[in-house]
Parts: sequence; C-alpha cells; structure tokens
Amino acid sequence: MKIWAVSNQKGGVGKTTTVIALGGLLSSWGFRTLLIDLDPHGALTSYFKMNPDEIEGSVYHLFHDASVKKSPVTPEPYIVRTEFAGLSILPASTAMATLDRQVASMVGMGLVIANALKKVSDQYDYVIIDSPPMLGVLMINALAACERLIMPVIAEFLALKGLERMYKTLKMVFNSRKIAPRYTIVPTMFDKRTIEARESLQHLHTHYSESLWPSVIPIDTKYRDASRLGIPGPLYVPTSKASEAYADLLEFLLQDIQTPSHKLGMSV
Ligand SMILES: Nc1ncnc2c1ncn2[C@@H]1O[C@H](COP(=O)(O)OP(=O)(O)OP(=O)(O)O)[C@@H](O)[C@H]1O
Ligand SMILES: [Mg+2]
Repeated sequence: MKIWAVSNQKGGVGKTTTVIALGGLLSSWGFRTLLIDLDPHGALTSYFKMNPDEIEGSVYHLFHDASVKKSPVTPEPYIVRTEFAGLSILPASTAMATLDRQVASMVGMGLVIANALKKVSDQYDYVIIDSPPMLGVLMINALAACERLIMPVIAEFLALKGLERMYKTLKMVFNSRKIAPRYTIVPTMFDKRTIEARESLQHLHTHYSESLWPSVIPIDTKYRDASRLGIPGPLYVPTSKASEAYADLLEFLLQDIQTPSHKLGMSV
C-alpha cells in the first residue's frame, strides 16, 4: 500500500479536486483506492454526497477510539464504499474542528492515521489523504503518514507566498521527525491567458524546478459540473484538458519520479 497526501496551507488551491481526480483515476485503472478526508470542512466527504454535519462514523471517531484505547485502532468500521468501483472513503465530520483542543496534548496523536492505515495495509493499493489548510494535529497526521506529498499551487503571486510558508512548515515538521516524504509541486487551475499565471509558472521553474511536476493542470469549467454531480472530474469528462493533465500527473507519480528530500534541507 502506498500513501500519498495532498497538502498546502493555502486554501482553495485545488487540494480536494486533486485528491478526487487522482482517486477516481486510480480506481478506474484497477487500483484499490482509499481516500481520507482530514479537513473538518469535509469538502471531499460532501463530494460523495455524505453530510459532514451528520456523519456517524468518521476520522473524528477514529481519533476518539485512539484517545480512549491509547493503542493503534482500525479505521475499518468508518470506511464507506463509494458508488465508483474500487474507490472507498474515510469521511470527515465537522466535529474534527475540535480535535486540536481535545487531543493535541496527548502522546501519539500525530500518528493515529499512520498507525490505523497499517491495520488495512493489505486491503488497498493506494491511499490519498486530503489535508486541511491549517497546521494542526490533522495536517501533522497527513504529513506523518505519507510517503509522497503532492502540493497543488495556483500560479499566482499570493499563492507562491503560500508555498514558501508550506516549505517552512515542512522543514519544521520533518526536521523534528527525521523523516521526509517525496514531494511534488503541481501547478493547478492554470490559465495560460494571464500574464500573472505565465510569470508565476516561470518563477516556479526557476526556484522549485527540482520538485516541480513539469506540466500544469489547466482551468476547466467542466470540473464545476463534475463537482455538482459528485463525479470525479476525469470520470465525468475523460477527454477534457484537465482530465488528460491529471492522467499525465498520475502516470508521473506512478513512475515514482523522485525529488530528493535533502533539497528541502531535511534528513531522511
Ligand atoms: N482545474 C480546475 N478548473 C476549474 N476549477 C477548478 C479546478 N480545480 C479546482 N477547481 C475549483 O476551485 C475551487 C477550489 O478547489 P478545491 O476545493 O479543490 O481547493 P482546496 O485547496 O481543497 O480548498 P480548501 O483549502 O478550501 O480545502 C473548487 O470550486 C473547485 O471546483
Ligand atoms: Mg479542500
């Protein structure tokens, strides 16, 4: 089982869309795939027509089990099969917003997801974690569990600032843990008609070329329709430019093209 996390402290950069697109593609290519919603807003959960305000089994319950048992717990009771073959989800509930206050000071809470996934490691080929934009116990869990980190970024100046902040967070988290995942920056919602997008992409190539996926996910209005219907973009419009780009990205990730972690100044 391979575990990937999609993370960036900047909001609205396409994290959830990327999780859904890669998850939809992986399952349609025959891989047993589990998506995990670690964002208390529950956008990924809502995408699959579950209500994060009412859900009875979620990541929140997993953390609750872990805090009571104080030993690794299984996520199995909370995993739901989606209507798409081979695609399951461990949903979020809004109660997760209280987790930082409840469990952050308890020992071992940074590894709840990593430990829980060991219990189901023979059941899935790929796990993709949707990370929240705030740094807290949930983002720490995403970073601690994954062996590959995917960082979506919009090619615009403000978003590039967010990327610098994310790099600082990664250095902090991974230097203390002495481990680091492989990481890939993915330019999303790229609008080639704007000068800002083209210049920002150039900036990424100049400053982050080692970790940059060499292509872009273009802006695609059909992805809004896909979201409204609850269908992963690449399954709804397989031949659209964004869907073809996500398929290229997935092939790149599956080939396991490596960015050395030491470039971040991290020890592995
Ligand atoms: N390639 C694309 N083309 C057009 N719209 C897109 C594309 N990718 C994402 N979007 C839209 O942009 C919005 C933000 O995307 P998304 O929710 O995936 O970002 P996010 O990083 O998960 O946000 P948050 O930080 O709030 O969790 C959504 O409405 C989504 O449908
Ligand atoms: Mg999101």
